[in-house]
Amino acid sequence: MILYRARVLDTPDDPFAGGSLRSHEDAGLLVVDGVIRERGGFESIRARYPTGPVVDLRDGILLPGLVDTHVHFPQVRIIGSLGLPLLDWLEQCALPEECRLVDVDYARVVAREFVDGLVAAGTTTALVFGSHFAPAVDSLFSEVSRVGLRVTSGLVVSDRALPDPLLTTPQRAYDEAHALAARWHEVGRTRYAVTPRFSYSAGEGILDACAAVLKDVPGAWFTSHVNENPAEVAEVARLFADAEHYVGTYDQHGLLGERSVLAHNVHASDAELAVIAGCSASVAHCPASNSALGSGLFPMRRHVEHGVRVALGSDVGAGTGFSMFKEGLQAYFAQRLLGDAGLPLTPAHLLHLSTAAGAAVLGLADTVGDLSEGKQFDAICLRPRAGTSLDIGLRHAGSPEDALGKVFALAGDADVADVWIGGEQVSSGGFRRPTGPQ
Ligand code: GUN
Ligand code: ZN
Repeated sequence: MILYRARVLDTPDDPFAGGSLRSHEDAGLLVVDGVIRERGGFESIRARYPTGPVVDLRDGILLPGLVDTHVHFPQVRIIGSLGLPLLDWLEQCALPEECRLVDVDYARVVAREFVDGLVAAGTTTALVFGSHFAPAVDSLFSEVSRVGLRVTSGLVVSDRALPDPLLTTPQRAYDEAHALAARWHEVGRTRYAVTPRFSYSAGEGILDACAAVLKDVPGAWFTSHVNENPAEVAEVARLFADAEHYVGTYDQHGLLGERSVLAHNVHASDAELAVIAGCSASVAHCPASNSALGSGLFPMRRHVEHGVRVALGSDVGAGTGFSMFKEGLQAYFAQRLLGDAGLPLTPAHLLHLSTAAGAAVLGLADTVGDLSEGKQFDAICLRPRAGTSLDIGLRHAGSPEDALGKVFALAGDADVADVWIGGEQVSSGGFRRPTGPQ
């Protein structure tokens, strides 16, 4: 049992549905076996538990652990390859690196770098695009399990339009996915996600194999890309001449439901939004990637008006880093740039999109996403270095909303001082606890 004393900001009440930021200036969070057993004013909780250990975090701000709903494990080393649109970037930057993960020793090191990157950014839960190579995906699951991250991931499958080493067959796609799911689905904090790369690179046979895995692995997740770039969308329309639209290529194979998360959806039609909403599927909005690849400005207002659930993804490595604070800020910018078509976002919206909305999209709303009683203690403490603009800004913030705006404008990995997952501290003072040979 540990009693944490902190200034806490979180968003249990959805600001997209009229809720607002919850701010607690001097909160006490009593954590027992990784779960928040009691939350209230520090003094009143301390009066009832006068003897146990207290961790005083009042020199920082405590937030829920961040949730990234779309991030690519094999792309950590290619972050920052700027200047190309999606299909050229895939061919010249992403796919050559993804081919290197055929070497499991290489994949193991990349998995460690990837997990370090997530933890350093304060991400405690993620939906992760895996590798095309089953042993590499196995390495990822091993590494996230060692650290304790909440990760849903799977084998990426494709049978056309990519370099040969990344291609598979429907039978092999099924067999390898099924074997990985048997090892990792709903084991500890890991779950399996069926993951065709995108319809552009996945023919009918692969999509049918994906549907078979979804059927045979109860509770499995589904993720892929959709409507990211106009050239991609046009080619998918040509390849799937019978489909009504891009979303339909997944829907007609029975791949969309409440455990499906589609990344991007920048160029969505109203008919597609209606299908996504009708299936209770959701969308991972990846604003930094959308800008870096010049993919376009995300129509968040239309998503919300259609009742489509939206959360944020870093889309590393097209995205420019792991920080969900950066994604929140970029989401805000994109809506500003859309003018009247945009959805004005407040700091509370940005925190919700980076925490509780991600937890909801991933079916973890009862477990994580805010720091209420009964939730797991997945939390981060921001503690900026003295004299930085974030430190100055926070000391002079006029209100909790103002402080949170400064966090999204100014915070980066260096400000994430401590990270807890299920009550376990996985990072402290900006450095991971040493865990063995490198
Ligand atoms: N579409 C298919 N593969 C990818 C990828 O790796 N990144 C992005 N942003 N879009 C994709
Ligand atoms: Zn992606």
